[in-house]
Amino acid sequence: MHQLKQQTIESYFWPLRKHKLCNISVFSQTMETVVSGIRSTGNLHLGNYYGAIRNFIQMQNEYNCFFFIADWHSLTTHPTSAELHQNVRNVVVEYLAAGIDPEKATIYVQSDVPEIIELYLYLNMNAYKGELERSASFKDKIRMHPENVNAGLLTYPVLMAADILIHRATKVPVGKDQEQHLEMARTFGNRFNRLYSNDYFPEPFAFSSSEKLVKIPGLNGTGKMGKSEGEGNAIFLADSPEAIRKKVMRALTDSGPTEENQAKPDYIQNLFDIMKIVSSEDTLQHFDELYSSCQIRYGDFKKQLAEDIILSTDPIRNRIQEIAQDEEYLRKTVTMGAEKARASARKTIADVREIIGIKPF
Ligand code: TRP
Repeated sequence: MHQLKQQTIESYFWPLRKHKLCNISVFSQTMETVVSGIRSTGNLHLGNYYGAIRNFIQMQNEYNCFFFIADWHSLTTHPTSAELHQNVRNVVVEYLAAGIDPEKATIYVQSDVPEIIELYLYLNMNAYKGELERSASFKDKIRMHPENVNAGLLTYPVLMAADILIHRATKVPVGKDQEQHLEMARTFGNRFNRLYSNDYFPEPFAFSSSEKLVKIPGLNGTGKMGKSEGEGNAIFLADSPEAIRKKVMRALTDSGPTEENQAKPDYIQNLFDIMKIVSSEDTLQHFDELYSSCQIRYGDFKKQLAEDIILSTDPIRNRIQEIAQDEEYLRKTVTMGAEKARASARKTIADVREIIGIKPF
């Protein structure tokens, strides 16, 4: 029986079998559970890759990992149906292209797991309006979009808590901006436990693997690389070499250093920070010395930076193109992911119903 299942699953993944990756993992009871979601609001960029996905790739070998595409969360901003589907698809393709392995981790689309909504409903019963209104991300959103303060936005942290608690995860690889949401997830889980006098939900905490996390700055001097920071600020994994060259050449610089060894302004330091990640140490040192001796020509510096970004993302770009055309592989990946995620979610919902007192006659 098990043999059969394994065979079916393996045959789903012929492209991966070529690389002789290991068999589908059999999750042991003791392996800790990791959950992380990404909102499907566009393509993945270098910041997502170096700041998060590389971390996921390491974790998938060591933990029982659930990585999902948070399409329900993205509905707060009302994408069109065509946009929504395309965005979800892009993230799946790019997760796979970047190296998340569906044989090791469970990759799924949130909306394929209806059990999450049921848990969301239960958690909503003891999530209070006041605490939801005090969330920093909610306050930001109402400041930025006062015309769209919907209930989904208010209860966003409850849905996120449901995403995590549905698998009773303890480790959540997210950035600083999600700390408060995680704290709320702990609050909601603990409150449930207290209400029903048990310890069913463990506490989830932010987590990063031993791989050092790097923050990728944006190209326009405003800090973090992000999709909401304006056109040209982010380099996407799917960008063509031509597009990358254009964006890098347009990055903010100035007329150059005027004194030897002067400190670099933020927007220049940012470009050096990217170079540190994508270029060789020699290259970095070379331009650093040119800067210190006031001989740097930003045109040359940016050309080199663009070429090194292109080189470092080349394999991913190629795989994106390959996988994007493989409908069958994509369909099978998300189908298997949904099955695995639902098996875990169903178990939790059965327990939770029992705990709450929703019992069959
Ligand atoms: N809120 C997260 C973000 O905006 C996305 C997310 C949704 C998430 N559900 C999650 C992250 C569960 C970790 C775990 O980035």
